[in-house]
Amino acid sequence: MKSEFFEKYPQLDPAKMPAHIAIIMDGNGRWAKKRLFNRVLGHEQGVKVVVDTVRACHDMGISVLTLYAFSTENWQRPQLEVTALMFLLKKFLKSQLPDMMENHIRLNAIGEIERLPDDVRNLLYDTMKITENHREMLLNLALSYGGRTEIVRMAQQIARKAQNGEIRPEDITEETVANHLYTQGMPDPDMIIRTSGEMRISNFLLWQMAYSEIFITPTLWPDFSTDELVNIVIDYQHRERRFGKV
Ligand code: FPP
Repeated sequence: MKSEFFEKYPQLDPAKMPAHIAIIMDGNGRWAKKRLFNRVLGHEQGVKVVVDTVRACHDMGISVLTLYAFSTENWQRPQLEVTALMFLLKKFLKSQLPDMMENHIRLNAIGEIERLPDDVRNLLYDTMKITENHREMLLNLALSYGGRTEIVRMAQQIARKAQNGEIRPEDITEETVANHLYTQGMPDPDMIIRTSGEMRISNFLLWQMAYSEIFITPTLWPDFSTDELVNIVIDYQHRERRFGKV
């Protein structure tokens, strides 16, 4: 948490910060189309916003930031676009390492990491290893991620344990389920932000978002700014969270 950040945004209450922010970064393609650019240029601009967002969340003292960077469905995009996204991801990991070191940011990936190309996967694992002891913020990249696939994988793992006699079905609790998801050990997202106005969850963090506050902004991801992020957090700080109680 940086005091300069809170001086710049006096309406932001440091005592009411969310622990975990998750973002569905949507609208790169539309941003590019509006300018008659190739879609890839939209993703390139999107990465710049990712860099600013990571920095802002770190400075605000957010413990976990999860970014939906690539869904299981995104594999069906044109090969050229998939390749470009993988290239941008590698470039991002390489260029951000100094920042992750300086700001003690730990990198983690959630999703079917084994499906990523070898070079991307190796760089990802290396970066995760180098940053594993960092404790200021966890940057969680959802890559080849799908909420339903995550739930299926959890069910398979627990069923296997039951079959081996390691767990009895009647002992399976919500905690058991949470401990077999990619997000084990992390707090559930307090807020989910989706850019570009679509009113959809798109298979993101299905189990984890049970009580998340949802914010949908019409802004396309490449136009999303730190000012807007802060305004959304201020809005969050004024919401009353009841978790199903009165
Ligand atoms: C949605 O825009 C965005 C994606 C599918 C990928 C998000 C990726 C980035 C922001 C860049 C890479 C990320 C990292 C962490 C380096 P869209 O293409 O679906 O936009 P559209 O709905 O307007 O077509």
